[in-house]
Amino acid sequence: MVQNILITGAAGYIGGSVLSDLLATSSSALKGVRLYAAVRTQEQVQALSKLGVNVIQMDISDAETATEAVLKNEIDMVVHTASSILADIPILLIQALGQRRQVSGKQTYFIHSSVITIYSEEAGWPAGEVKDTDPLFQKEKELASQHPVVKTNIAVVEEALKHDVKCVNIAVPTVYGTGTGQWRKLSVSIPAYIRVSIEHKIVYKFDKDGSPPAVHISDLAELYVILVEKILQEEDIPMTETGYYFAMAHRAPWWQIMDGIANALYARGLVPEPKVHIWPSDEMAAEYLGFPAAYIRAMGTASGNATPVNAYRLGWQPKWTQEKFLESIDDEVQAVLDFDIGNTNIFKVLHPSEN
Ligand SMILES: NC(=O)c1ccc[n+]([C@@H]2O[C@H](COP(=O)([O-])OP(=O)(O)OC[C@H]3O[C@@H](n4cnc5c(N)ncnc54)[C@H](OP(=O)(O)O)[C@@H]3O)[C@@H](O)[C@H]2O)c1
Repeated sequence: MVQNILITGAAGYIGGSVLSDLLATSSSALKGVRLYAAVRTQEQVQALSKLGVNVIQMDISDAETATEAVLKNEIDMVVHTASSILADIPILLIQALGQRRQVSGKQTYFIHSSVITIYSEEAGWPAGEVKDTDPLFQKEKELASQHPVVKTNIAVVEEALKHDVKCVNIAVPTVYGTGTGQWRKLSVSIPAYIRVSIEHKIVYKFDKDGSPPAVHISDLAELYVILVEKILQEEDIPMTETGYYFAMAHRAPWWQIMDGIANALYARGLVPEPKVHIWPSDEMAAEYLGFPAAYIRAMGTASGNATPVNAYRLGWQPKWTQEKFLESIDDEVQAVLDFDIGNTNIFKVLHPSEN
């Protein structure tokens, strides 16, 4: 039986919101479960310490530290939200969960956070509909993609199989809405577009529209909680090779979003016109937004053809629709004005020398 759960990236947008929802749930499944929150800085420790959870300051990419955190705290489940890009971190954590399994004799679990955009042609995935019930692990291996997120997905399953740890993979789409964590409350993409528009007093869009999968942070956090509950209740749900969950509630039409951002910024006097311009180049977009140049097309123009099945089969019922989302773009702008603490660090691992 799982008793102790470690949440990595607990000061982050997704991890903070998941932690907050896990603390708020009245589910009997979580009775007696102790939550551990991994954060990177002392300020984050202070911010989270009021929650009454065990906050651990650590660099989870350090092998010794990660192993010690799992073994000393007798962690049976890790909810990993700190990086979809670096395979090394999940490998370390899964190895530690394997050791913990040997010591305790109990099954251990790893919930991975990945990226749904990898299942789009712009990211190198073959054309056509892709469901999370498809044999994705086999397909990912067959493709032999060099995409770091795909390589990490493969490593997660392979390492889990090797150490008899059960894992699930949440393929996260474009997330929006204000998070409920104690530190970072804003997402990656939409706040970056708003931040850059304010800074340069101009709103840009890509020359091609895209409509990627999307989800409100409250619906996404609910899916994590459902998965944790199902695992705690030892329900027979898809895991490991078949454990992929597309956390997709609806789509996010970029050009309509950018129009909404331009109108909201113009109404506040933050841009001189409510017009949206085309990025002069992808390189400039990548530089301004702080997104990796290699993935800027996928991040800015991909739609993909993903169909979520597994999460809905578990009873997940997202409350936010595309219509409600588009009506809330003004709130997205206001949230940046109220809560922005700057760009996420998640892409820095691709360019460690610039850190
Ligand atoms: N938000 C989205 O729209 C979205 C979409 C698709 C996929 N995802 C994926 O979901 C994951 C979480 O995203 P997010 O929006 O929550 O990002 P985030 O707000 O930047 O959260 C990531 C957290 O992990 C922490 N972290 C990273 N490396 C660490 C390390 N070595 N040691 C300790 N802590 C570390 C970060 O610490 P610092 O605060 O010190 O940086 C941060 O608090 C990412 O992998 C991202 O790729 C997100």
